Amino acid sequence: MEKILVVGAAGQIGSELTLALRKIYGNENVFATDIKDAPKDVKKSGPFQLLDVMDDKRLIHFVIRYKITQIYLLAAVLSGNAERLPLQAWDINMRSLLNILDLAREVGIRKIFWPSSIAVFGMTTPKTDTPQLTIMEPNTVYGISKLAGERWCEYYNHKHGLDVRSIRYPGLISYKTEAGGGTTDYAVEIFYDAIESKKYECFLKPDTKLPMMFMDDAIRATTELMEADSSRLSIRSSYNLSGITFDPRQLSDEIKKYIPDFEITYKPDFRQVIAESWPQSIDDSVARNDWGWKHKINLEKMTRIMLKETEKKFKHK
Ligand code: SER
Repeated sequence: MEKILVVGAAGQIGSELTLALRKIYGNENVFATDIKDAPKDVKKSGPFQLLDVMDDKRLIHFVIRYKITQIYLLAAVLSGNAERLPLQAWDINMRSLLNILDLAREVGIRKIFWPSSIAVFGMTTPKTDTPQLTIMEPNTVYGISKLAGERWCEYYNHKHGLDVRSIRYPGLISYKTEAGGGTTDYAVEIFYDAIESKKYECFLKPDTKLPMMFMDDAIRATTELMEADSSRLSIRSSYNLSGITFDPRQLSDEIKKYIPDFEITYKPDFRQVIAESWPQSIDDSVARNDWGWKHKINLEKMTRIMLKETEKKFKHK
């Protein structure tokens, strides 16, 4: 019987992943935790507790008390916010991972999931169809912390046999819980502003292509990777994962099909430099070969769902 701990269950990925894991493993077997309050459906459908991943003593008590067998660590400071508070972001992103890895080794956790990001790549990385193995010279605090984290995951796997699994998520687009402070988050904000005011001021230039993915695909990728037979996994740092690639202009053109008088203006800020250091598209053939990954949701479908669901949210406010 699996007992699962989700750290960061109130966040953009955690709030949706918790519900998906509860469907697979049973509501009472998935323990949602965060330092902040979680959305209603996370609290209603199963156990939720406030827990700070930086508090290693409480963390270990929790894991032993509830006989946890798997941990999903989703707490992190994203790219834009990390540039504002670099040392704090480094401390949070690294210490949370090291706390979990070491605790897992000590108490014998069966499987760990930790997300990496396209932010591990940098200016010197090939921009299109970025391969699994390539030059990695990230120049953001977030990217440096994710690359270091990948090396630690692989180290714990090789040195201690810990079953750590990871994905380099592209920009994630979802309507349930808003992301906070990411460079790719324009592609979420745009839907809120399109519904509310039919206008959006974008902090990236119109032709800034980035790899993106709709949340349903990202959640499915995560559960599929975690269910895959460990003998099939050749990567213990983090898997490249690809969904859709588009730029702000293409996304706004797609929105205009539904809201013809939608207007987008551009006022690039410091996040433009971050975006330009990241790839435009990702080669995820290793994930496809190792555990059969395949994305399902394209730009058209994603836009349709996002508009419909964001509109519903405004109606229920
Ligand atoms: N979506 C993240 C960010 O923009 C990248 O992993 O920070």
